[in-house]
Amino acid sequence: MGAVAPPELAAAVSEAGGLGMLGTAHPGLTAASLAQQLKRLRALTAKPFGVNFIVAPQVREHLDLDCVEIAARAARVVEFFYAEPDRAFVEMVHRGGALVSWQVGSKREAIAAAGAGCDLIVAQGVEAGGHVRGTISTLVLLTEVIGSVNVPVLAAGGIGTGRAMAAALAAGADGVRVGTRFLAATEAAAHPEYVAALMASQAEDTIYTTAFSRGFRDAPHRVLRSCVTAVEACQGDTVGETTALDGTRILAPRYMAFGVDKTATGMIGAMSLFAGESVGAVKRVEPAADILRMLIDEYARQRR
Ligand SMILES: Cc1cc2nc3c(=O)[nH]c(=O)nc-3n(C[C@H](O)[C@H](O)[C@H](O)COP(=O)(O)O)c2cc1C
Repeated sequence: MGAVAPPELAAAVSEAGGLGMLGTAHPGLTAASLAQQLKRLRALTAKPFGVNFIVAPQVREHLDLDCVEIAARAARVVEFFYAEPDRAFVEMVHRGGALVSWQVGSKREAIAAAGAGCDLIVAQGVEAGGHVRGTISTLVLLTEVIGSVNVPVLAAGGIGTGRAMAAALAAGADGVRVGTRFLAATEAAAHPEYVAALMASQAEDTIYTTAFSRGFRDAPHRVLRSCVTAVEACQGDTVGETTALDGTRILAPRYMAFGVDKTATGMIGAMSLFAGESVGAVKRVEPAADILRMLIDEYARQRR
């Protein structure tokens, strides 16, 4: 989840028994800045964690492959998203000693991921927040994918409660990916205005759109509807500024998709406020460990 999910959030999730994921979709990503982030993460937890890379062609051309190698040596799982599964990435990660996950949006892509040697697959439905690969609902995709591959499959998209988690696991998922629900975690770095907007929103307040396509075309995403209205209404070429991983201040171009973290200044409401349909479960700011405990307790109650 890039800038909004710093090492502190990944570490807190791992400490609480989940597999915390460090997102690398952050301006200023270099081998050196990633190594710094991984150092911070490892200082906070000795538990396994994952590192995620968006490898869409337009992002990949700027990706230093040393980042993937560093991640493969440090993490238990390295995950890729938003591109056709690629055996070269899988082999690179295996050489470093980590497992490979590929987040997919279709049965065809899941079969390709398994064929490329991935160890696990995340099936992402159209309900998901952030960039969305899936075009059909999570439960429908999940059941299609489970029947087509022989590796563990996690469900992603719309899972923000123990009830939804129970539904995915009952349908045969080996685990779940939860994104939006953690945006208001104490350890997350989402901008306070963004967090307030999330807490005031329901599933209907999100929209699947291509509005924030500057620099990353043909990549649908789910955001709060209000930010699309706001960005369309505002004038000018930029909506504010944010801070890159190396600490430099950079402009936030209008219609650019990025993680709106606490360093962002300007028209926060007109920035890409990613949110999944699970947003209705985001009600307060609380530690990631409490969120995880609530999900598991509610899941356990459903199973009784
Ligand atoms: C703010 C935000 C940022 C995200 N960034 C990434 C990312 O960098 N890489 C990735 O693979 N998925 C990313 N996702 C998608 C998640 O992996 C996952 O599919 C999604 O959060 C699941 O749906 P949910 O938001 O309803 O829990 C992001 C999601 C959100 C909400």
